[in-house]
Amino acid sequence: MKNHPPLSTDNVTKLEDLQTIRLDAPVGADKVFDSDRPADDFKFNNEVAKVFDDMVNRSVPFYGEMQRMTAELARDFVQDHTNVYDIGCSTGTTIELLDRAIEPKKVNLIGIDNSQEMLDKAAQKLKASKLTHPYTLSLGDAHKGFPIHNASLVTMILTLQFIRPLHRERLVKDICNGMVDNGALIIFEKVTSRDSMFNRLFIDHYYDYKRRNGYSEMEISQKREALENVLIPYRMEENFDLLKASGFKYMEVFFRWYNFCGIVAVK
Ligand SMILES: C[S@@+](CC[C@H](N)C(=O)[O-])C[C@H]1O[C@@H](n2cnc3c(N)ncnc32)[C@H](O)[C@@H]1O
Repeated sequence: MKNHPPLSTDNVTKLEDLQTIRLDAPVGADKVFDSDRPADDFKFNNEVAKVFDDMVNRSVPFYGEMQRMTAELARDFVQDHTNVYDIGCSTGTTIELLDRAIEPKKVNLIGIDNSQEMLDKAAQKLKASKLTHPYTLSLGDAHKGFPIHNASLVTMILTLQFIRPLHRERLVKDICNGMVDNGALIIFEKVTSRDSMFNRLFIDHYYDYKRRNGYSEMEISQKREALENVLIPYRMEENFDLLKASGFKYMEVFFRWYNFCGIVAVK
């Protein structure tokens, strides 16, 4: 039997308190693909940054629960005097929740994104919410790499899928190498299935979910085309192989909704 890393037992806030974590009401409504537009790859530019919180809330099933689970798991793994990274931090939602969830722990929070427009939004949000931990927001491109060191937690929520496959293993290795023992990586990803029947069914159900959230056929099809070359999902097994090859010892799926999954991996 494997020796599992010890779980921390010194959380002072009760886990139930995390139930009170709420996402801020989105400010701008997502109309990005609402009118006929020239075919172009999806970009996290100013147009998207302005409405991102609404877009992600309406496009990602259980987005709020993903954030809550991330904050909850964070408390199991974050260690004092370490760094906590959120790669692809977008508008800072995860950092804001982590700040509250890991309250007594002495850590630096570091948000990294390659979109200055997203970082500007994150800066506004985090300034308004008066974080208790020291934090930095850095412009960094995961395709080129950036330093990661003394990390007890790294989160990549719906971000690894945007990293070109050529660079994924190097990035995940850099993350693992920059981690302390028993540090954790939490990822949420869109995934594909080996079997085309399940792919079709799951994607159909996913588009139904978007329709229920007010997206039109035009919005759904234009966004699908825009994401085609940019968001490249792996199969679950490919994600596990990637994590193992990068040095993670333990890994488990803790969330699944059709073509979305959450995985926690521990060094
Ligand atoms: C779907 S969003 C992530 C959502 C966010 N983590 C959340 O929980 O709300 C993907 C983010 O990854 C960033 N991103 C995409 N490619 C990147 C890269 N090569 N390096 C760094 N960030 C990248 C995008 O700018 C975007 O903010």
